[in-house]
Amino acid sequence: MSVYIDLDVPADPMRQRLYDGNLVVLTRLHAVSDLVEYARQELTELFKPHDPEHAHEHFDPAEMARMLGVWKPHFIHSDTAKKLVREIIREAGFQAEHTHYDVPKPRTSFPLGHLTTGVAFAFPWHRDVWYSAPAQQINWWLPIFPLRDDNAMAFDLQSFAKEVPNNSDDFDYYQNNAGRLTTAAQVTRERQARPGALDHQPGHQLVLLPAPGEVILFSGAQLHASIPNSSGLARFSIDFRTVDAQDLMAGRGAPLVDVRCTGTAIRDFRNVVDESSFDEETVTRLFGAPPPDALLVFGRAEAERSAKSM
Ligand SMILES: [Fe+2]
Repeated sequence: MSVYIDLDVPADPMRQRLYDGNLVVLTRLHAVSDLVEYARQELTELFKPHDPEHAHEHFDPAEMARMLGVWKPHFIHSDTAKKLVREIIREAGFQAEHTHYDVPKPRTSFPLGHLTTGVAFAFPWHRDVWYSAPAQQINWWLPIFPLRDDNAMAFDLQSFAKEVPNNSDDFDYYQNNAGRLTTAAQVTRERQARPGALDHQPGHQLVLLPAPGEVILFSGAQLHASIPNSSGLARFSIDFRTVDAQDLMAGRGAPLVDVRCTGTAIRDFRNVVDESSFDEETVTRLFGAPPPDALLVFGRAEAERSAKSM
């Protein structure tokens, strides 16, 4: 496995290297810096007069959960954030016509002892494909402020295509969508199913520390974890995902060796050019028919309902 910095190949072979378990870091995309700048402005406004990296010193966990529960859906669905994500994808050389993307998610990781549930949950070792991501999913992950090795993300590259004991059979995408209606209100205890590796001890863990303005690309089948934050500083990052429609149709993607969840996240993805989603006939053919009462997507309306339910 390799980590490629500014890999200079067309998008098709770049995706293949990611499906094969390698990582790519892109350091020269102007739109990444623009998204970082936009997120910093938003966070500065949200926490003013306090420094966002020290915000946890000024708001208790319940207040923080309330603030983030309102702000996160606002950011996720803002036209500016989505426009910048589309620019990042194009600037990276991915073909807009057959690339579909999901909305950008801001993530927060507070120092241990503060808010670590609900909107600020620290993910243990997991693959996104255990959360019903398709084999074609590529994750794009970027920090908003400088990272440190005690508040970043870790990869277990050696376990990429190896079976790892996990509880993904507890996870159903549509039930999870229904459960998310109350996530933001969770301050002290998790109520959502969160698939993870069982007692996983990586032989070696790789911690990548891209600078603000740089972005890591990795397959949704990659085993990764949030490092419990002992830095004293809040960590803010943004991630979004892409799926290539041609790869999806052709069945090209990462190996799925230990995935037992049900449902699919594929309906969350929108075309970069015209915002169209995959047609339902294709989705049903590739992933099977959902149950009649399934909550297929957790969209803006559901996010607003969730924020108001607190
Ligand atoms: Fe993840």
